[in-house]
Amino acid sequence: MRSGKIRGIPSGATSGRDEEVGCRDRGPRPVQRNRLKPYPYQGFWCILPLPDRTLRSCHPSQGATAVVERFRPIRFSRAGVRGLQVSATLSINDRVKELWAAGQNVYHLAFGESRFPVHPKIADALCRNVQKRCYLPAAGIPELRKAIAEHYGRVFDLDVAPDQVVTGPGSKSLIFATLQCLGEEIIIPQPSWVTYAPQVHLLGKPITWVPTYPESHYLVETDALQVALQESHHDMGNPEVLILNNPGNPTGTMRSPEQNQPLADFCREQELMVISDEIYARTAFTDIPFVSFGKYYPEGTVVMGGLSKDLSLGGWRFGVAVVPPTKGGRALATALTNIASNVWSCVAAPVQYAALVAYSGDSEVEEYVKLCARMHSIRTRYLYDLMVQLGVQCVEPSGAFYIFPCFDQWRDALHARGIHNDKELALHLLEKYEIAALPGSAFHAVRNFCLRISSSCIDLATDDQADALVAAFRDDPDPKRFIRNHHPRLQKVAERFGEFIEELKR
Ligand SMILES: Cc1ncc(COP(=O)(O)O)c(C=O)c1O
Repeated sequence: MRSGKIRGIPSGATSGRDEEVGCRDRGPRPVQRNRLKPYPYQGFWCILPLPDRTLRSCHPSQGATAVVERFRPIRFSRAGVRGLQVSATLSINDRVKELWAAGQNVYHLAFGESRFPVHPKIADALCRNVQKRCYLPAAGIPELRKAIAEHYGRVFDLDVAPDQVVTGPGSKSLIFATLQCLGEEIIIPQPSWVTYAPQVHLLGKPITWVPTYPESHYLVETDALQVALQESHHDMGNPEVLILNNPGNPTGTMRSPEQNQPLADFCREQELMVISDEIYARTAFTDIPFVSFGKYYPEGTVVMGGLSKDLSLGGWRFGVAVVPPTKGGRALATALTNIASNVWSCVAAPVQYAALVAYSGDSEVEEYVKLCARMHSIRTRYLYDLMVQLGVQCVEPSGAFYIFPCFDQWRDALHARGIHNDKELALHLLEKYEIAALPGSAFHAVRNFCLRISSSCIDLATDDQADALVAAFRDDPDPKRFIRNHHPRLQKVAERFGEFIEELKR
């Protein structure tokens, strides 16, 4: 502090905070105001601590008495965070919790989190392995990779070897790592899960959008893909990777085997790699069986899965990537493992041992997965039937726990109420009807006035409620009685939506 200049900051350039800067021997000195402009990042002013050396130069042993100025603006990299927003789904969840904490009622239909209890055998495995605290192999322990490979054979009829399996902390991280490894330009359907586009942006890769439509159940069609590819080639692009999500978030729709084959043929012809996000595979609830895209295009498909949805273990962060059974696929597994070892090291050790039970084929665990899928299906279908009754356009869901209704037919009535887009519609529903839903634009929907509505959290706010709901369903699996006797808030949601549609008709 001898020269009145703090090391690392130009003279007089401090944070602009009213902090006292001084030395014991000289007494307090006047506050110095910042002459460096704080760096605007998404409307926020960002400041960060200076490196250690600044603190050392002001260490109390050298005479500093008060809090010493030690902030300066962050300089964000161009490639990394610019334009990145917090995940729409996570931020609405936080907002709803805030509103609840403030004593407000909100019907939470905005978050896609399966909330049924942890299966006792899996919970027990986690507890038994709590002392496992060493780093484990980056791709996962060998016995787990073997169990997962066998699981994919048993459940999805895929021929998978253990070295095709890479585990990670949630499929989100593995999708990101795979996007990092593959292709320079990525094709993403519209609408699609909120996270794909931000991940591709983070990697600084361009996106080619391929629109999907309610008439074709929001499924990617080869014609639309062909057009998107042509346009992209015309712009000098060369998309090499397509992301598919089946069953899909936000629409809940699912590709049938007949729809998979032509798309697989097209991808093979165009030499497109496919990242097939099948995290909702075991929540499918139609008569049509779920078939993995890897079955149709094994040499070009990376299948993504995990435990977050079918076993309600989102917070445990466990995901799986199954790479193609080819030389290239093995090279991808190595690349993913290298990323894993340099970024997250490995999945938490106790979680890996618990996952061993989840993937073991244990009959009780398998029965539980099916039970949960049935409960999700009843809750989701209730909302879908409600939309149909109210005359709202909505494509029938076949899996996951989402519906994607569109209120476009009331465009004029909405405009008359000052509602011009889906964000305003979501806000109106929250403020006037206490319903939290996500705007379709968060999923890059092509149409206006769509909402993503999730059935996953309602009437499942606490662990006790989750336990009670499972017990009740085991006792009496009749869908009507399950809703009528155990879903008071879901029934309220029906009332509130009814009032909203009445409002629009007035
Ligand atoms: C389509 C889709 N993929 C992946 C994920 C992420 O799952 P995980 O918990 O495995 O990261 C989600 C979670 O909401 C999702 O909706």
